[in-house]
Amino acid sequence: DWNSGNVIAEQVARIREQVGTGKVLCGLSGGVDSSVAAAIVHKAVGDQLVCVFVDHGLLREGEREQVEIDYVASTGVRLITIDAREQFINALAGVSDPETKRKIIGREFIRSFEQAQADLIAEARATDGDPIRFLVQGTLYPDVVESGGGSGTANIKSHHNVGGLPEDLQFELVEPLRTLFKDEVRAIGSELGLPDVIVQRQPFPGPGLGIRIVGEVTQERLDLLRKADAIARAELTAAGLDREIWQCPVVLLADVRSVGVQGDGRTYGHPIVLRPVSSEDAMTADWTRLPYDVLAKISNRITNEVDGVNRVVLDVTSKPPGTIEWE
Ligand code: XMP
Repeated sequence: DWNSGNVIAEQVARIREQVGTGKVLCGLSGGVDSSVAAAIVHKAVGDQLVCVFVDHGLLREGEREQVEIDYVASTGVRLITIDAREQFINALAGVSDPETKRKIIGREFIRSFEQAQADLIAEARATDGDPIRFLVQGTLYPDVVESGGGSGTANIKSHHNVGGLPEDLQFELVEPLRTLFKDEVRAIGSELGLPDVIVQRQPFPGPGLGIRIVGEVTQERLDLLRKADAIARAELTAAGLDREIWQCPVVLLADVRSVGVQGDGRTYGHPIVLRPVSSEDAMTADWTRLPYDVLAKISNRITNEVDGVNRVVLDVTSKPPGTIEWE
């Protein structure tokens, strides 16, 4: 029968056999899969593993610290953070179309990750002549099934054109979660000593807050949304609702303004949308019937504490016809 201790022991042995004394690279996103994958690999090969985390500036409050402080403290991995906030905000200037935002964010992400790879490979070559040949991926069993089972190597594409990378460089993939389902990955993460904030984390899209601002992404809007999101998350957690909710996007309607009144004055501010959903797999979803007192608390706090927001509205659409995200 299934036992997380056995799975870890098995994977550790397998990784050691695959990797030998080679160096291994892993991109951390802050999500469950990459966090657990890196933790197993670290258990297997220790400091042969280097993790890279890209701060694209579209993260929620506290997420970078969660990786840099909590994750590193609980695993001991060697972590390099790439601060790419300026690069992303510049690349997104003037863009409102959701798919264009996704493309830009994806492109910039690959760019910064590959730049980090190139630097690390150059460093590894300089110190002992051994380049990095292995790349960790947090692929789960459902991903394997969905993509038809193929895998094995990842090509670094030359058209991204970053200095220092040999054009034919191939990484061999290390995929310690390939046979596992999400709940099993969580169990293994706990067994490896990862904190609940990481192991029980709800899904959060790769493009982050960038696709939760309906309209152009600006620094000011990001700061505003980050504050509203932090309040909503804190209140949902305080009310003990994290397990009941699949995820709760908090969305800024940056191109909409409405009239309000606050203190003695008229305001003309933006609405924040709460989008709490219940789901099994994100393919379909229902809007979560949150308790009115929790909604009231979130609404009061956001309108009082976040400058520029004068309304909080609740999305009561299921999926389909709505998607979970607004973009
Ligand atoms: P939708 O909005 O399509 O979302 O109902 C379904 C699930 O996917 C997440 N999502 C994304 N995740 N990159 C990601 O990594 C994306 O571009 C993206 N768009 C949506 C969403 O948060 C939900 O869990």
